[in-house]
Amino acid sequence: MVDDNNKYLSPVAKKALYNDDYSSSPPTPMTVSPHSSAPSSPRRSLVSSSGDSSDDSDNAAKVLRAAVSAPSLLEVSINRRRDIDREDDPYSDVRDRMEYLSTRDKMKHVYHDETTLTCESDLERFSNEAPNTPHQDITIFAAITTYIGYVVLIVTGHVRDVCAKLFRKGRYFRSSTKIMSSGINNPYRDEQSQTQTNTTPSGNYPSDNPTKYAPLLKSWENFYTRRLYHRIQDCFNRPIASRPSACISVLERVSFDGNKTMSVLGQMSNLSDESPRVMEEYQSGQHYNETSDGRVVRTCLNLGSYNYLGFADDWDITCKSDVMKSLQSLPSSVGSSRLEFGTTSLHRQVETIVSKFVGKEDAMVLNMGFNTNATIIPTLTSRGDLIISDELNHTSIVNGARASGAAIRTFGHNDSNDLELILREAIVYGQPRTRRPWNRILVVVEGIYSMEGEYCDLRNIVTVCKKYGAYVYLDEAHSIGAMGPSGRGCCEYTGVDPADVDVLMGTFTKSFGGMGGYVAADRRVIDELRKECAGSAYHNSLSPVVCQQIVSSFQVIMGEDGTNIGKQKLDALRDNSNYFRMRLTDMGLHVLGNYDSPIMPVMLYNPTKIAAFSRECLKRGLAVVVVGFPAVPILMSRARFCISAGHTREELDRALKELDEIADLLKLRYARSTFG
Ligand SMILES: Cc1ncc(COP(=O)(O)O)c(C=O)c1O
Repeated sequence: MVDDNNKYLSPVAKKALYNDDYSSSPPTPMTVSPHSSAPSSPRRSLVSSSGDSSDDSDNAAKVLRAAVSAPSLLEVSINRRRDIDREDDPYSDVRDRMEYLSTRDKMKHVYHDETTLTCESDLERFSNEAPNTPHQDITIFAAITTYIGYVVLIVTGHVRDVCAKLFRKGRYFRSSTKIMSSGINNPYRDEQSQTQTNTTPSGNYPSDNPTKYAPLLKSWENFYTRRLYHRIQDCFNRPIASRPSACISVLERVSFDGNKTMSVLGQMSNLSDESPRVMEEYQSGQHYNETSDGRVVRTCLNLGSYNYLGFADDWDITCKSDVMKSLQSLPSSVGSSRLEFGTTSLHRQVETIVSKFVGKEDAMVLNMGFNTNATIIPTLTSRGDLIISDELNHTSIVNGARASGAAIRTFGHNDSNDLELILREAIVYGQPRTRRPWNRILVVVEGIYSMEGEYCDLRNIVTVCKKYGAYVYLDEAHSIGAMGPSGRGCCEYTGVDPADVDVLMGTFTKSFGGMGGYVAADRRVIDELRKECAGSAYHNSLSPVVCQQIVSSFQVIMGEDGTNIGKQKLDALRDNSNYFRMRLTDMGLHVLGNYDSPIMPVMLYNPTKIAAFSRECLKRGLAVVVVGFPAVPILMSRARFCISAGHTREELDRALKELDEIADLLKLRYARSTFG
């Protein structure tokens, strides 16, 4: 039975539990349109082996075909507003405006048509109220001050390094003699000193003299870590002592060496006189709390985890019982790869659900999302192939592409025109030197770009790829479960037939509260990948317990658990995200991304603002993620908010109030003024 006071219960789950009507209506089915067969393509097979393509009827794919067409979009939006029960709707006061903004964004970025909206008098009303999409480019002032900020940091760092060498004193200064005599970095030293009583500083091993080694870290990375990153490292890697739900407990950390190292404070009694800041803040009582074992934490509103559908909030009622049952009947690890003894019925179950959900013939699960890209891409492509990758694709894609041996080109972010130019050029000129045609061309894009909060221009990209016979590989790590009326991701949202995307990849770490990744494609491709993909064949298979978590969360999302929780979660995620985005934009912040995306980066630009923003937020009980160089270009430092279905409107309003104050304090309103 569920505890009424369960602190993790999301509003959606609470409603589901205590409202009798809740489970009565099944989730709205998707629009079904007739199967549009793809034109024959000059492409070579994606997998090298020959073999007959499966003739199995593909019912799942039919369900997903061409969900929405442009002219009906307005009706969808208007009907949606009419459907929502105003009394029940936490956003009834802003509903119309939110729907207008989301529809406008969708018309612009999915259908590239802004004219339809202006004809609708119903929506025109809101076009006056709604903020114009602000100019999102960095202002000249912000760009200059950002460069100056980095120059000051770098020059100061070098001056400090030189001073440390001159005066032989400094946090990071290690003289080579000191190292040699202390034996640091020398694993043999202890053995040696036991066998040799008279150890000379130079010793018998090269490791006795660290100067003989090339530095393990590149010098710029080393410098960057010491002189830039360490200054603000309290803003990253924050340890937490709770689930990643709407509210999290962030363990308090202290540093006694000027931020060079951080340690968890633990109990309050560990606090020394050297940390007056913590003592002062703690005594003021703001957001401080203690875990059951007495460790000091701050209870913060979580605006940074990928808990999109809020499974971390209501896990106790949605997934727990199944997961705990599976833990009793199956091992936590199968101790083998999929090709050996690593396949349980749960693995097959996950694969069946995934293929049905995304509308492909078959799917394969791997135990890491990162690994999925890093090992599937090299299995599909090799020397003689060309990978054309969006310039802002995730590192796992970059790693996979590099490991494949294929030639790599990048195209301008989400720019299908640039993609077309590159494709045309690739086909005209062929491979360098030999000028032979490329064996295969694989275009790799993401459903939602994790650092931009922007969805893929999938319709145009698919059109261009079909025109030139290139394969499409879509990474849905952030869009699967989070986008589209039934959570089926970017294809559903943009109305693209999943049959037109050759490989659908995604992860279970975001919307599903699990671990691992999947790849879904035609059965023949998946059969080949099962044999050839190193990430599956040579890697311990996904834990059955995690498989159960994935199965249970899918059942909730698909309404197969007999409740309407999944649908409510999807709606809550969309509403929360659109509300938060709308308010941030109203504040005059530079907010990147699109409506209906749960990721919203807010630009900070200046390196000093990264730390200031994060610390101010933490002080006010907001746990946020800040991102700086090298994860994003040097000028483009940002805070990245991830909204969840588990957030309530009250929580979001509290966060917005604090952010409004911080925006004033740190001068972040770049959409209103050049100076912020
Ligand atoms: C686009 C994209 N692909 C792949 C991954 C890797 O997924 P995972 O964290 O599940 O390993 C991520 C991680 O955030 C991602 O953003």
